[in-house]
Amino acid sequence: MKSIRDMSDSEIIESIQSGGLTICVIGIGRIGLPTALSFANSGLSTIGVDINENLVKMINSGNFPLKDEPGYDVIFNKVIHEKKFRATSNFTEGVNASDVIVLSLPTPMDEKNIPDYSALLSVAQKLHDEMSEGKLIIIESTVEPNFVEKDFLEILEGNDKKLKSGKNFSLGVCPETANPGQILNDFERLPRLVGAIDKETQNLIIKIYKHVFTVDLIPMPDCKTANAVKLTTNVFRDLNIAFVNELALIFEKAGIDIMTVLEAAKTKYNFQVHYPSAGVGGPCLPVNSYQMINFAKNFTSKTFGLVEDGRKINEKMPFHTVELLEDALNEINLPLSNSSILVLGVSYKPDVKDIQLSPVEKIVEILQDKGANVLIYDPYFKDSTIFGIKTLDDFVQCLENCNGLIIATAHKDFHNLEPQFLKSKMKNPIVIDSKNIIDQYLAKSVGLIYRGIGRGK
Ligand SMILES: NC(=O)c1ccc[n+]([C@@H]2O[C@H](COP(=O)([O-])OP(=O)(O)OC[C@H]3O[C@@H](n4cnc5c(N)ncnc54)[C@H](O)[C@@H]3O)[C@@H](O)[C@H]2O)c1
Repeated sequence: MKSIRDMSDSEIIESIQSGGLTICVIGIGRIGLPTALSFANSGLSTIGVDINENLVKMINSGNFPLKDEPGYDVIFNKVIHEKKFRATSNFTEGVNASDVIVLSLPTPMDEKNIPDYSALLSVAQKLHDEMSEGKLIIIESTVEPNFVEKDFLEILEGNDKKLKSGKNFSLGVCPETANPGQILNDFERLPRLVGAIDKETQNLIIKIYKHVFTVDLIPMPDCKTANAVKLTTNVFRDLNIAFVNELALIFEKAGIDIMTVLEAAKTKYNFQVHYPSAGVGGPCLPVNSYQMINFAKNFTSKTFGLVEDGRKINEKMPFHTVELLEDALNEINLPLSNSSILVLGVSYKPDVKDIQLSPVEKIVEILQDKGANVLIYDPYFKDSTIFGIKTLDDFVQCLENCNGLIIATAHKDFHNLEPQFLKSKMKNPIVIDSKNIIDQYLAKSVGLIYRGIGRGK
């Protein structure tokens, strides 16, 4: 059978439309699983490869693991029923049964904030050792510019001249930009960037992705530019949040309400609003800033000042949140030590069941270091142990037992919290609103001791 690289344009189109191509997605987590399901839903046979055997078993027994991704439960049931999608932990079988290999592997950072590309590099080595010729490889993971062209390709090609990009395999990137909790919506809406080692590969990727995703596919001059765009959008957000966080710290002292300022500022056509908070978490924003910093080190002996400073500000916010709590407790002469503090929400963003790099972990750690007894309530984490603490299920009982609470994640459930209700249930009426979701004037008028970030006393 012809490899995808040897097919004519019409043969490729025919294979795509008849569902004759097989896709292998390696890494079927938060992003990789929805990606694989989208390929399968478009009629292409799709195999998901993952080292997590429990996940593979769960998927093959028909249990959808991403309950907080609306829409994909239905697609999952459909493609499993149609036998268009299956999972395996057998790398070689998945890869060699496929024409196209999509990599959605994790790219976290280590404890010193250095990007960790080990999953991609170990897969590059396995592809070198085990992949047959003629495949198209597409990296969707977020990596810094030049990683694909240098580190990844060097290992994939190896020294034995067995594999050569553009000769007996093709390589490109399509950095993923979807937001957890709304991946289906984003896959139907957000343009995708396509970079590749040569024009033919880029055209090939665009043809295949056009069949699966009904969005604009934007050709990039090369892989490094596509990856630079992905990092730029997320570093932009991280930095803008750092900017409003820094303003919040100053405005608090000056008696200026940051939320009033931002609501008015956003009436100006070229102001893009960002909001202050207890920090920035998740597998993307903090990591992407450190990837950019790591990338910049190759070109400047100086530090990448602005991005590094932004990180420092955002990493300071959990400490500031606890300072606000201590200040509020002080008003009723209660020390933080031995107080019971209820933390509402542990996810790094609203309405997802995900605690990766959540700043709430830092808040909990600081509270515990200061001797507080930490209680956790999160509608997405009932009956669980999070950050070493058993979560609580009875919200009212939590309120009755705490000396103060911190709203740490803006889950929808918390937006409806009535100040009067909190006042009537809480042992001590102390509310730290790190998401500024409660009406501060109402909160104060009913007698809550309220602090929001950037809102003053
Ligand atoms: N989650 C997001 O919000 C988001 C958004 C856009 C882009 N991204 C990027 O997408 C990539 C994937 O992120 P994610 O959030 O889906 O990660 P994830 O941790 O949810 O999923 C990664 C999956 O890869 C598997 N895996 C790890 N090593 C493997 C190996 N050697 N072989 C096979 N499988 C392996 C893991 O078991 C896991 O199931 C990252 O580069 C991330 O930066 C993530």
